[in-house]
Amino acid sequence: MSAVTSTTQSITLTIDDKAISCRSGETILQVARENNIDIPTLCYLEGLTVWGGCRLCMVEIAASPKLHAACATECTEGMTVRTTSPRLKQYRKMIVEMLFAERNHVCSVCVSNGHCELQNMATKLEIDHVRFPYRFPHLAVDNSHDYMRLDHNRCILCLRCVRVCGEIEGAHTKDVKGRGVLSAIIHDLDEPWGDSQTCTGCGKCVNVCPTGALTHRGTAVGEMTKKTEFLPYLTLMREVKL
Ligand code: FES
Repeated sequence: MSAVTSTTQSITLTIDDKAISCRSGETILQVARENNIDIPTLCYLEGLTVWGGCRLCMVEIAASPKLHAACATECTEGMTVRTTSPRLKQYRKMIVEMLFAERNHVCSVCVSNGHCELQNMATKLEIDHVRFPYRFPHLAVDNSHDYMRLDHNRCILCLRCVRVCGEIEGAHTKDVKGRGVLSAIIHDLDEPWGDSQTCTGCGKCVNVCPTGALTHRGTAVGEMTKKTEFLPYLTLMREVKL
């Protein structure tokens, strides 16, 4: 979790052999992006709190045997970070393959086909097959809302929808039930979405969802596109109280 420190200091570190200066309190991911160094992410979204759940953003830090989530690790003086290596690529591929194996991500019939962050990540990591047995769970589709839909089969549990609903919209309609592979997004006390008394129908959750899990009803295969640009803007406006 990135903590904002009261006294900001200048820090020098090395990312991929490049000497970089940043402010104390900044995470490795923030600094990498400010310096055009690409680190893959799925659960992270600028404008929301850091959750650190997907682990796609893991990086190597010199003298540390374990891997670190770049979105949730603050830079420290003299740190040496490596964002790409055969080991990192191997683990990132494994994570994405496990996400595909866990639920039913059938891209060819998905409304988000061609606009899906999970699909794009698989392409970027050169995944052409999944080495793990598919679980093919029988999961529900919540079609109860008038104009939005939740398809649990496509959900990767990044919790962006839960965070945007609580942190930005302030409705706190969405939450998570269960543990491990049985975890699922719920509305209020696990009611059908359409029966929720707290959902404002703002649609922010649909727009931040990286896959075809949250979509607008009435969209056909490949038609669902998402917009996330509003998020950093809203957060900034609130910070400066405009
Ligand atoms: Fe860092 Fe998901 S983006 S853990």
